[in-house]
Amino acid sequence: MPPSLVPARPAPPAARRAPRAQAASSCLLAEAQLPAVPSTLLIPLAARAHGAQYFPWLACQDAVAMQVLAALGADVSAYLDDLSTVLNVLWRTRAIKELGQEFFARHPSALGANLGCGLTHYFQWLDTGTNHWLDADLPPVMALRKPLLPPQCPRMRHADLDLSQTGWWQRLGLPTQRSATPVLLLCEGVLMYLPPAQVHAVLAEFAQHAPPGSRMVLDVMTRQAVGCAARHASVGPTGAEFRWGVGRMAELAAVHPRLHLLREQSVAEGYGWAGIAMDMWWRPWLGAPLYGLATLGVRGGPP
Ligand SMILES: C[S@@+](CC[C@H](N)C(=O)[O-])C[C@H]1O[C@@H](n2cnc3c(N)ncnc32)[C@H](O)[C@@H]1O
Repeated sequence: MPPSLVPARPAPPAARRAPRAQAASSCLLAEAQLPAVPSTLLIPLAARAHGAQYFPWLACQDAVAMQVLAALGADVSAYLDDLSTVLNVLWRTRAIKELGQEFFARHPSALGANLGCGLTHYFQWLDTGTNHWLDADLPPVMALRKPLLPPQCPRMRHADLDLSQTGWWQRLGLPTQRSATPVLLLCEGVLMYLPPAQVHAVLAEFAQHAPPGSRMVLDVMTRQAVGCAARHASVGPTGAEFRWGVGRMAELAAVHPRLHLLREQSVAEGYGWAGIAMDMWWRPWLGAPLYGLATLGVRGGPP
């Protein structure tokens, strides 16, 4: 989530709490005792639940985000004041949905996994009737997720995950055979909170183990934003810090010979012509989008 590109919201929204849900929610959130980085999951959840009222053309039609927020009873008004972040989340959600739909159109029985899933529910949009889905995050987040978004069919499952520890591919039981069906991995709003060496290890683990044809969709921010989370309207108050960013998109595929950058997208497209013009203006200095998405592919060949 990059620094603000959108002026301050014109008028304050009404409070977005579900009064009857507040007691239960306070319990759930209080019991979860989420540390700084996991607590950022409320930021995109708020955008998916309420962002369409500000950016109806980017509405993601999330059928559960509003209910989850109501059950949590979290006051997310401050996150909705940060309109550029709301727009960025809606833009990336739409783009990831489209990338997921394209992938499962080609591989209708494949496995998709959301690494650092927070309280997202991509399977509501990506269920083909025969594919499989894994939602994984740090244990405190999965404990919070379990009562709110339990797996709803045998083709869905949950798992605890710590991406900062190598070996997660095997621990999640992801396929390792070269002949296996390709997998789709999503990792949004996660890697910017890890140190660069850990991000490279995550990408390398994907490259080493994923069957050819697999995809990983991740969001990236410019390296210029590293260390600047305190200035971010939504992330700053959580105490989380941005630790990884890119200087060039080509750095992603350079991590491992099996990786290739299939697609890069800039959030500038969500801001229309003005955003695209600003992106072109900044690009020589930043070397990468201020904020964007990368789709990485895995080739065949030696590990
Ligand atoms: C901004 S939230 C994004 C959540 C979700 N992907 C979304 O877009 O709504 C950041 C997420 O990254 C997860 N995360 C941070 N460090 C992680 C790690 N080492 N392993 C797994 N998940 C991690 C957090 O627990 C949190 O759910």
